[in-house]
Amino acid sequence: MAEEKGERSILITGANRGLGFEMVRQLVEGPCKPRNVFAACRNPDGAQAEELRNLVKKYPDIITVVRLDATDPSSIQESAKVVGSKLKGRGLNVLVNNAGVMAAGNMEDTTDDNMLSAFSTNVMGPMNVIKGFLPYLRTAAKSCDKPGMSCCKAAVINISTALGSMSSIPQLYSIFPAFSYSISKAGLNMLTVCCSLDLKEDGILCTALHPGWVRTDTGGPQAPMEAKQSVEGLLKVMQTLTEKNNGGFLDYTGKTVPW
Ligand SMILES: NC(=O)c1ccc[n+]([C@@H]2O[C@H](COP(=O)([O-])OP(=O)(O)OC[C@H]3O[C@@H](n4cnc5c(N)ncnc54)[C@H](OP(=O)(O)O)[C@@H]3O)[C@@H](O)[C@H]2O)c1
Repeated sequence: MAEEKGERSILITGANRGLGFEMVRQLVEGPCKPRNVFAACRNPDGAQAEELRNLVKKYPDIITVVRLDATDPSSIQESAKVVGSKLKGRGLNVLVNNAGVMAAGNMEDTTDDNMLSAFSTNVMGPMNVIKGFLPYLRTAAKSCDKPGMSCCKAAVINISTALGSMSSIPQLYSIFPAFSYSISKAGLNMLTVCCSLDLKEDGILCTALHPGWVRTDTGGPQAPMEAKQSVEGLLKVMQTLTEKNNGGFLDYTGKTVPW
């Protein structure tokens, strides 16, 4: 029997492992399957994308894997062309900027290269990805006649972290010193607020979400939560977002995270 597909299209960066892969998995295995899930990753043929390739074999009509390195503007442009040809004039409803890098360590441990890599992947990456896919987000927003803002219409979701929260970091820094990561994610938070202002006229929602502390390569083996639980929460929260959350910062349970 043919799968029942919805109307929405969603793109997730860093979709080959961790939270990004789990998001793709839950979207295609859930009851309300999107029309298109664009699973963007920088090395679709690599060993770290094997689970994703297996999932594509099960859901070839829904998942399109696109090669996208968030630090490489030309790969973003190329991937946008692939996505555009697949959308065939329809819009992209949700863009999830999930790809991220983290280097542990305090100021003295941190090199210029750590800082540049964190800034390039966690701040400039999301900015360039938003710019690259903006025409399709605008198409989605324009073609939806519902008032207000939502992930059903058009939205940018930036996966941030409580470690990027200036008011939370005094309690967290001694447990998780990640100097370059925290500074770059604070930058991503500001990017979220600035984008929410820039894209308001277009009706495109822009929100930062904290996934909790999750057992992935970034979160490490001591993290208390599985990716499954975090992503269930993130997807639920995404469904509830409205214009009230434009430029906001929430965690995977829907609680506001202080800036
Ligand atoms: N896990 C946690 O506890 C936690 C907590 C707060 C926030 N977060 C955030 O959640 C997001 C996902 O992290 P995760 O926990 O799922 O970590 P993860 O398992 O380490 O995955 C990181 C993902 O980012 C991708 N990536 C890194 N640099 C990239 C680039 N230049 N272009 C494209 N993709 C790139 C990786 O791809 P490759 O396989 O090619 O390296 C991988 O798919 C990140 O933004 C992270 O900061 C995680």
